[in-house]
Amino acid sequence: MYKILLFPGDGIGPEVTEQALRLIRKIGESFHLVFEIEEDLLGGCSIDRHGAPLTPEALKRAQNADAVYLGAVGGPKWDDVDPSLRPEKGLLALRKGLGAFANLRPVKVLGDLARISTLKEEVVRGLDFVIVRELTGGIYFGEPRGISTLADGRGEKGINTEVYTTPEIERIARKAFELARRRGRKVTSVDKANVLESSRLWRKVVVEVHKDYPDVTLDHRYVDDCAMQLIRNPRQFDVMVTTNMFGDILSDEAAMLTGSIGMLPSASVGAGAALYEPVHGSAPDIAGKNIANPLAAILSVAMMLEYSFNLHEVAHAVEKAVVKTLAEGFRTADIFEQGMNRVSCSDMGSRVLHNLSA
Ligand code: IPM
Ligand code: MN
Repeated sequence: MYKILLFPGDGIGPEVTEQALRLIRKIGESFHLVFEIEEDLLGGCSIDRHGAPLTPEALKRAQNADAVYLGAVGGPKWDDVDPSLRPEKGLLALRKGLGAFANLRPVKVLGDLARISTLKEEVVRGLDFVIVRELTGGIYFGEPRGISTLADGRGEKGINTEVYTTPEIERIARKAFELARRRGRKVTSVDKANVLESSRLWRKVVVEVHKDYPDVTLDHRYVDDCAMQLIRNPRQFDVMVTTNMFGDILSDEAAMLTGSIGMLPSASVGAGAALYEPVHGSAPDIAGKNIANPLAAILSVAMMLEYSFNLHEVAHAVEKAVVKTLAEGFRTADIFEQGMNRVSCSDMGSRVLHNLSA
């Protein structure tokens, strides 16, 4: 039995999570697996109900689950809440509370989607690499932080601090090298070592850890150069390992190479239960319209089956169902092309479900 805690969250979160949930139920029936699924509140919906984006009870439930699944959090409705209680704080506390320090974001162009990329088709066709983003350290969590008043009364001062320690860099570097061993045996470490001390340490530790993986090639890129290389020739990458902040930015950039951010799943793994979530946000502008792309959410289920439950074949079946659905020409608005079948979020979910049994 596999115990899953779902956090549908805010905006389009509940819509895409609903499709993921239908898929999990269908997988249970088709492959004779038992999933025990519970739900809780995270983000804005939890603020509305409990006055906090993640309650200690919800975190405890997450820690006790075999895997945690999340839709998306946030929205303009909560823009004016106390910054320490923003919806995003709940997500950050959940990642931290689960010890989920390695965020794996596969960037894969599925089927014919190279055609709809804003880049030339030949630049992105067959693209397949993974961003390994450090998730529980760096400037997102570093101290000191805060806003204080300037002594001379001329305004305020906002402070955030990029901090990385040797053990934090070591464990994320190991994840990247281990993953590269199962793929193309090439790691690109991304930093800003020409300017930042935290990056100089990052580079030094990555080089040190690399000694244990002589069968994997390692190269280093500065983050600005890497942002350019992603557009110039993204197929040079196999596994990219980087900090929390750089990984956040580069993964949105990389998402567009695949056609739409609505296509990108992610897994955050570490000490305890892993966390699965689409890379996209809560998209409040299209929430409730049943037009969001559920494929990132569905592919996040595939990652859960693979990483948390070791159900490789079932995970593969989900991916195949997605590729087949795309090949049949079913497209949500974000990946729509002339001559294809435009479908809603729930229709796309149904199509994938149908193809899973086929
Ligand atoms: C992401 C998101 C989050 C992040 C936000 C919502 C806190 O942008 O998962 O990439 O910055 O990590
Ligand atoms: Mn992001």
